[in-house]
Amino acid sequence: MSNTPVSFHDLHLTVDDLAADVLTGFSRSQKSIPPKYFYDAEGSRLFDAITELPEYYPTRTETAMLREFADDIAHKAGTGHLLVEPGSGSCAKARILFEGLQPCAYVPMDISRDHLQVAAQQVAAEYPWLEVHAACTDFTRLMTLPPDSPEGRRLAFFPGSSIGNFDPEAAVGFLRMIAEMVGPGGQLLIGVDLKKDKAILEAAYDDAQGITAAFNLNLLKRINRELGADFDLTQWRHEALYNEDKGRIEMHLVSRATQQVHLLEQTFYFSEGETIHTENSYKYSVEEFRELAARAGFTADTVWVDADRLFSIHLLQTGAHE
Ligand code: AVJ
Repeated sequence: MSNTPVSFHDLHLTVDDLAADVLTGFSRSQKSIPPKYFYDAEGSRLFDAITELPEYYPTRTETAMLREFADDIAHKAGTGHLLVEPGSGSCAKARILFEGLQPCAYVPMDISRDHLQVAAQQVAAEYPWLEVHAACTDFTRLMTLPPDSPEGRRLAFFPGSSIGNFDPEAAVGFLRMIAEMVGPGGQLLIGVDLKKDKAILEAAYDDAQGITAAFNLNLLKRINRELGADFDLTQWRHEALYNEDKGRIEMHLVSRATQQVHLLEQTFYFSEGETIHTENSYKYSVEEFRELAARAGFTADTVWVDADRLFSIHLLQTGAHE
């Protein structure tokens, strides 16, 4: 596909990680599964389909903003960085920035191995001048750069409002990890979904075509396949509700009946209406997010907001003294 070599560093999640996280999640009174397990091959495909849904405004809004503000972003952030993108997916958003930012190298990081490899190779083929160092990693645990990545002022790129998956405390911890990774004088360009009308939010996470429902239910399919569980998918349904108090969308899988599920030599009991909490997606006002970032040691540089005030993109920097 490409004659540009892509270095590939593999620290991907194993079945043991999934087993340990599911057992931990199912031992709580509110059962849960970490959202990072959504992204197997099928889940990544479904997520890409979500980003094109009429109800799911974040991707289209952020993408339009990156296009509209690309020059301004490069003007404010500078050029020639080592551009690091945790959770790079298809690398579609970074592509919009390459031209203006002229990074010295690009480090896409993703948990989905095959997806990452294909995307990184495509980027390398399309941008022959760009050095690409792909890192297959669970960036929620580890954010070490590939050992062969070049020196350079570091700019982390974290679009898509993926920061919303963390509880605010954990978000601060994650931002601190990024601050450490980019180092003194480093920067972060991050997309953050804004608080807005509940109806708009709930439609975005419960679309008419049922793609988000399939994405949520795919977790159970994955657990059946990888952990030998016996979830009956017809006995579960998708739910997405905006929790106004906490400022977050919550996704759950709701048990349609009283039932038992076997996995890893254990039996789990679910009552009718009981849920497995699968994802939070926090929404922040510009001010709320700036406060969060400040707790992680970041100073606000610039914030871009679209005309409909749906989405925000923050450019942040670490103090030179840190
Ligand atoms: C990838 C975490 C940003 O929260 O909007 C989309 C994931 N879940 N629809 C989001 C998601 C259901 C998405 N993030």
